[in-house]
Amino acid sequence: MAGQLNVLVICGSLRKGSYNAALTRALPALAPPDMKLITAPPFGAFPLYNADVQEASGFPGPVNDLAAAVRDADGVLFVTPEYNWSMPGALKNAIDWVSRMKDQPFKEKPVAIQSASQGPLGGARMQYHWRMSMTFLNAFIFGTPEVFVGSAATKFDKDTLELKDQPTKDVIKTQLASFAKFIHRVNA
Ligand SMILES: Cc1cc2nc3c(=O)[nH]c(=O)nc-3n(C[C@H](O)[C@H](O)[C@H](O)COP(=O)(O)O)c2cc1C
Repeated sequence: MAGQLNVLVICGSLRKGSYNAALTRALPALAPPDMKLITAPPFGAFPLYNADVQEASGFPGPVNDLAAAVRDADGVLFVTPEYNWSMPGALKNAIDWVSRMKDQPFKEKPVAIQSASQGPLGGARMQYHWRMSMTFLNAFIFGTPEVFVGSAATKFDKDTLELKDQPTKDVIKTQLASFAKFIHRVNA
């Protein structure tokens, strides 16, 4: 674990012009040198979780792909919007599918979260729902600093969606550096 840290990035928004996807694109420049950020396999086409489907046909291929990516990673970073004060349904559905696997991939996995929203709180309420789910899954949950990108339309370039806000960049840099230390500690 002394070398490079492979951190899987799961973006909770499926839309093309997503601020959260834009946030993920800003991360490599803000990550410590030993952290490599890897884009997670897509989960937008997962069927809605149904135990009958799981029993009849097992786990769909794309669910296995996401689970394998989580297992392979040294840590997982979620970057996601808040929908109705909670996690977006597609993201929750992805977590629900992966959580039913025998060798549950989030168990003892270092995880962290960032959220961007167009509301002023930046997705804060959703993060606490996410923390509840991750606690149940026995993930090792990174604490602070928290990253809430509120009023996202003011923080990204309107045309290029490049992250422009320096205080946001600063807190992300600090969070990623602390998350790297956390992962090293957990996996020592
Ligand atoms: C179904 C739905 C629910 C939403 N609920 C919230 C909310 O609870 N809090 C909030 O700050 N923004 C909420 N929003 C607005 C999102 O912050 C905004 O759409 C944001 O751009 C979504 O992230 P994205 O740009 O990465 O897709 C909601 C949007 C949708 C589509």
